[in-house]
Amino acid sequence: MTKKERYESLLPQVKALCEGEEDMIAKMANVAALLHGEFGFWWTGFYRVSGNELILGPFQGPIACVHIAYGRGVCGSAWKEARTFVVPDVEQFPGHIACSAASRSEVVVPMKKDGAVTAVLDIDSEHLATFDDVDARYLEEVVSCMV
Ligand code: SME
Repeated sequence: MTKKERYESLLPQVKALCEGEEDMIAKMANVAALLHGEFGFWWTGFYRVSGNELILGPFQGPIACVHIAYGRGVCGSAWKEARTFVVPDVEQFPGHIACSAASRSEVVVPMKKDGAVTAVLDIDSEHLATFDDVDARYLEEVVSCMV
């Protein structure tokens, strides 16, 4: 199966998990597990906007940083600029926050409600250049299904 096909088969599952469910933490927990299990990423999870920082939410993978300031790292930048960041080599990203030394590439997708970023989906890979426009496009669809 191509990556595109895997995302295509995953989207109905995301919709089924989120339909009729109002608890965002529960949805984040299941979606993190679904993506992580399907693709075998290094780290898959959510950070939620809380005041002027991001706070660690449901995730799969090794323990991670709990607080991320607005505009800091890839996650804080995705929040500030309200757009998806695909980072092929985290060492080349100024201000990258290394929660794990094993992480080599990353994608961060903001989740928006009424135009405001409420959380970010962060996925890390232990390989370089794991993520591209296909991931960005489908992961944006995943988070839009969740709100
Ligand atoms: N690397 C992220 C921090 C979160 S961890 O990767 C789980 C960043 O630079 O925002």
